[in-house]
Amino acid sequence: MDMQAIPAREGNHNLKNYEDFRKTFSWESVEKNFSWHETGKVNMAYEAIDRHADNPDKKDKIALLYSDPNREEKVSFDELRLQSNQFANVLKKYDVQKGDRVFLFMPRSPEFYQAFFGILKIGAIAGPLFEAFMEQAVGDRLENSEARVLITTPDLLYRIPQDRLPHLEKIVLVGAHEEEGDQYIDFDSEMKEASTDFDIVWVDREDGMLLHYTSGSTGKPKGILHVHNAMIQHYATGEWVLDLEEDDIYWCTADPGWVTGTSYGIFAPWLHGVTNVIRGGRFSPDDWYKTLQDNHVTVWYTAPTALRMLVSHGEEKVREYDLSALRHILSVGEPLNPEVITWGLKAFDLRIHDTWWMTETGAQVIVNIPSLEIRPGSMGKPIPGVEASIVDNEGNEIPPNQMGNLAIKAGWPSMMREVWNNKGKYESYFINGWYVSGDSAYRDEDGYFWFQGRLDDVINTSGERVGPFEVESKLIEHPAVAEAGVIGKPDPERGEIIKAFITLNPGHEKSDELLEEIRQFIKKELSAHAAPREIEVKDSIPKTRSGKIMRRLLKSWELGLPTGDTSTLEE
Ligand code: WT7
Repeated sequence: MDMQAIPAREGNHNLKNYEDFRKTFSWESVEKNFSWHETGKVNMAYEAIDRHADNPDKKDKIALLYSDPNREEKVSFDELRLQSNQFANVLKKYDVQKGDRVFLFMPRSPEFYQAFFGILKIGAIAGPLFEAFMEQAVGDRLENSEARVLITTPDLLYRIPQDRLPHLEKIVLVGAHEEEGDQYIDFDSEMKEASTDFDIVWVDREDGMLLHYTSGSTGKPKGILHVHNAMIQHYATGEWVLDLEEDDIYWCTADPGWVTGTSYGIFAPWLHGVTNVIRGGRFSPDDWYKTLQDNHVTVWYTAPTALRMLVSHGEEKVREYDLSALRHILSVGEPLNPEVITWGLKAFDLRIHDTWWMTETGAQVIVNIPSLEIRPGSMGKPIPGVEASIVDNEGNEIPPNQMGNLAIKAGWPSMMREVWNNKGKYESYFINGWYVSGDSAYRDEDGYFWFQGRLDDVINTSGERVGPFEVESKLIEHPAVAEAGVIGKPDPERGEIIKAFITLNPGHEKSDELLEEIRQFIKKELSAHAAPREIEVKDSIPKTRSGKIMRRLLKSWELGLPTGDTSTLEE
């Protein structure tokens, strides 16, 4: 769809003269905002929390504006400093060391953020897991990372396969419980006893800080390691892209189990010392508009799937709320439909700024900013300090308006530094000095990037990456399923839905009950968002002669597209 460009926003904003600024920019200039530029002693928790708590003008400012349907809490920078010190002391008591992996598996809550910064303060690596994960998904991640400590809530405990986790020494339980045994630590009582003084463990800028698991098309999820140095890019994009100002009230809707919920739900806003709204509970249009209204949110970072749902509830719903504080909206996770941008202009009288990046990039890379025109359907332009391009399979740049691999010149500050325990996988991302994203795109003559799709078989459902292999592996664990092939099928609200093709083992008959049972099986073992919305029983699943499932062929069949080259198809 070709739509007219939307002109740059009037008025003042943080990044003006994009083209000129880009030309002379160096990351050094951003590093100078941090004292570690001189001392070499760095810790993200200090820069995001303690630095503001040390500032008499800022220490009592509200850092965290938390609410969920049952609870409301306001936490100042100083309180968050003291609470995270306490948690760091709890970890110290149990001998947690720099570099150890400490995981969090719990819903958003004030305790989550206390624990999160406590982990960073002791120099350990934090691993947040989305609360919807079920046993297999949780087990795989804790096993691969060899996590020593896990922080969770008593009602999630049943999803932790402790038997298969020899490295997991301690489980910290947040909330009332009756667990007994040496492995359990009670959050409330330990926090009460813990000192509010803690000497931050200073680390190297290249030391590990955060481990996020993400899905690929083959194999188990990969642990993407980020280091403290990433703060440079979180800070810079917080200024240029989120356009943050001292008095902003900021809301990022993402859960910290995903990278958006850490890079932009934790780091970017707090590096800038702004008040950060965290809303727990489930999505509903009324709840979200009310959250925007009641907290006087000024800057709002959300996702296309949510925006599409808001669109479907109409502009009238927006009018029921006073959203006059809102001044800047951003989106990430999947393509932002031009129709949604058009609707946003009417409904909020604001442009919606698409941003492109991924778990591996650690921070925004290609963006729309207030001072650039928006070309609806385009992800925008690379941030200053980052070079993006379209390359062929050998890593050679290709001319404008031709589709190819979306690639980024390796070495930006927030780039992943490791795929946990998998050097080969890490190296496979880089070709000829370029990080190759797995997305296809083209660049127009003016340097705007246009997303075209994924090049691998990874499914993007409601903004969440699901690896087809993980779902297929789980499907064939069900006694009725012989073989399985899983694809993403385009869906107007969710971007894609998961569709599974299966063959049945002898003795099993196709029925609606059986298909529902299989669906529930995935939901129960893996996670709700990985459960196929559609399951189709086939006589056989197309495979290559080497036994690889031909997902692309399944997809072509499903969409009624030409099947292309099938010469490797097994007889
Ligand atoms: C994949 C990364 C870090 C953001 C949350 C998702 C897709 C992301 C866009 C966009 C079109 C997008 C890509 C990318 N994606 N943003 N603005 N337009 N597609 O992080 O789970 O690592 O997924 O999400 O396919 O590769 P993620």
